[in-house]
Amino acid sequence: MTQRILLIVSGGIAAYKALELVRLLKRKGIAVRAVLTESAKQFVTPLSLGVLTEDHVYGDMFDLKEEREIGHIQLSREADLIVVAPATANILAKMAGGIADDLATTILLATDKPVLVAPAMNVRMWHHKATQRNLAQLREDGIHLMEPAVGAMACNEWGKGRLPEPAEIAAEIERLLADATVAPQPLLTDTTRTINAPDLSQRNLLGRHVLVTAGPTHEPIDPVRYIANRSSGQQGFAIAAAAAQAGARVTLVAGPVALPTPPGVTRIDVETAREMLAAVESALPADVAIMVAAVADWRVADEAEQKIKKDGSGQPAPLALAENPDILATLGHSAQRPGLLIGFAAETETVVDHAIAKRSRKGADWIVANDVSGDVMGGARNTVHLVTAAGVEDWPEMPKQAVAARLIERIADELAGR
Ligand code: C5P
Repeated sequence: MTQRILLIVSGGIAAYKALELVRLLKRKGIAVRAVLTESAKQFVTPLSLGVLTEDHVYGDMFDLKEEREIGHIQLSREADLIVVAPATANILAKMAGGIADDLATTILLATDKPVLVAPAMNVRMWHHKATQRNLAQLREDGIHLMEPAVGAMACNEWGKGRLPEPAEIAAEIERLLADATVAPQPLLTDTTRTINAPDLSQRNLLGRHVLVTAGPTHEPIDPVRYIANRSSGQQGFAIAAAAAQAGARVTLVAGPVALPTPPGVTRIDVETAREMLAAVESALPADVAIMVAAVADWRVADEAEQKIKKDGSGQPAPLALAENPDILATLGHSAQRPGLLIGFAAETETVVDHAIAKRSRKGADWIVANDVSGDVMGGARNTVHLVTAAGVEDWPEMPKQAVAARLIERIADELAGR
């Protein structure tokens, strides 16, 4: 498995050497994601680091506008090792004091991963009692510290404080990655874990495209009336949110519901089944498609242009219905069929039998079957059965968010095993 470094570059004249370090690490097959402090941007640009890391360069904790921006906790959870190079006297002091006033220091305070620090600073700053006190504290805290090199400084002084050569830092990184006994930062205590929730922070759907449909469809009868159903969209939205949390690029095709768009999810709003099919097809290709929407089976054959009037004759309404396209079955039998295709089956009787039949009829890999005879539609909890080629799994009743998290975890396992 590819090993991953989160490289924090703080602001010193040696920051340009971070570029060489990234090149060396990439050549060794180590993935690097970079974080720049504000002052580091004076010495090295996000653009040059981004080109070399082939990734987004992170810097601003509060810039959540970008789709690819992810939380500081996730940034550190994804890495096997955090490296601060060069580390200025300032960032060492903040680390020793537990100060978290920007993205870099917040990551360093929140991480549960081992941390390697390669200091670089003026010789007098290095020998200053405050710096030496901070270094002693960091050693005691279990931080791996490299010794700076001795030599000429950028400021024309001579002494200890030069950044170790990038090749030396790379070698130390390799040593720490290979050393299974490297102590991580103190582990989270049980009270900080969410009980029963699978851990999506591994982001094991990174690089995958997940397509989700959710909610009901509305099928117009005339300009003021439509056919609908009781789907709230909650289960589909929870699945889209969990997929995004696991690192996937997520497209959510949503029927008419008033739910907020989960962070990191691209949403396409539609009304009718035919619009939903068109939106789904335009979003292909996808690695995984999860069709959660309660698509109306029928639409009115000829939508009236004007409001239909009753004529008082007592005759049945003049409504002819036409069958809607089956989006799941269309995907199941299409040339662009996603590698893993999952349908839902809302039933009010013989739930599992119907789901098994539906799986083969629609060409799906899995069917998530749920009994909607109670208040599942619109409710917060769900009891589901997962029907796969291997058989049927009965999951206990749980919140819809937990169903989503568990399903996403199963999907990641399935994709990893292929
Ligand atoms: O046949 P039934 O409606 O019970 O099938 C449910 C599954 O099929 C769900 O995954 C639902 O999203 C999908 N479906 C669809 N297009 C339809 C009807 C159902 O994608 N027209």
